[in-house]
Amino acid sequence: MPSQTGKNPSIIGPFLTRRAQLADQQMLNALHDECSLPSRYARYASARKSLTTAQWSRLLHPGAGVTWVTVLRDSPETAVAVTHLLKTDHPGRGELALLIGDQYQGQGLGTWLFRLAMSTAEDDPAWRMVTATFSAYNKRARAILQRHGIYLPPVSHGAVDVTVHVRTSSGRCR
Ligand SMILES: CC(C)(COP(=O)(O)OP(=O)(O)OC[C@H]1O[C@@H](n2cnc3c(N)ncnc32)[C@H](O)[C@@H]1OP(=O)(O)O)[C@@H](O)C(=O)NCCC(=O)NCCS
Repeated sequence: MPSQTGKNPSIIGPFLTRRAQLADQQMLNALHDECSLPSRYARYASARKSLTTAQWSRLLHPGAGVTWVTVLRDSPETAVAVTHLLKTDHPGRGELALLIGDQYQGQGLGTWLFRLAMSTAEDDPAWRMVTATFSAYNKRARAILQRHGIYLPPVSHGAVDVTVHVRTSSGRCR
C-alpha cells in the first residue's frame, strides 16, 4: 500500500514513482513511442504516440490535478508509467488514467498506482469521486477494480465507465 499521499517519491520493487515535472516530457514521449498500439489505444482510445509541450504543460498545471511519473530506480531517465488524477468539469470529480509500458505490465504496478491515486484522493477533501473509462476487454483494469470491491457497471458501446466514491479515513463516502 502506498505509504503517503503521493507528494513524495515512493518505491515499489524496481520502480520509483514521483510527481511529474515539465522536464519529463521527453522520457514520457519515449515511453509512448515504445508502447504497443493496443496499450496506447487502451489509454487514449486513439493511437496517440506523443504529448506536445502544450498538452504536457496543461496536464501539469497545478489546477489540472495530479500527475505522477514512474521510472526505473536504476535508470531514473527511463519512464515506465504515467498516472493522472485529473480534475473534470464537475467539481469534486476526478478522472483516473494510467499508461504502463508493455514490458512492465502485469507486475502489480498498475494495482499499486491505482492505490496511490485513490489514497491521494482520500487525503484531499476536494475529491469526492473518481471516474475511469476503459474497454470492456481490458482484463487488467477490470481485475484491479474488482480486487478493490468496486462495482463494474454494464458495458456500454464496448466501454466501461466506472465511478468510485472517495471514502474518508472513517470509511464514509464524501
Ligand atoms: C491496465 C493497467 C494500468 C494495469 O496495470 P498492470 O500493472 O498491468 O496490472 P497489475 O499487474 O497490477 O495486474 C492487475 C490485475 O490484472 C491481472 N492480470 C495481470 N495480467 C493479466 C493478464 N494477462 N490477463 C488477465 N489478467 C491479468 C492481475 O492478476 C491483477 O489481478 P489480481 O489483483 O486479481 O491478481 C496497465 O496494464 C496499462 O497501463 N495498460 C495499458 C493502458 C490502459 O489499459 N490503461 C487503463 C485505462 S486508462
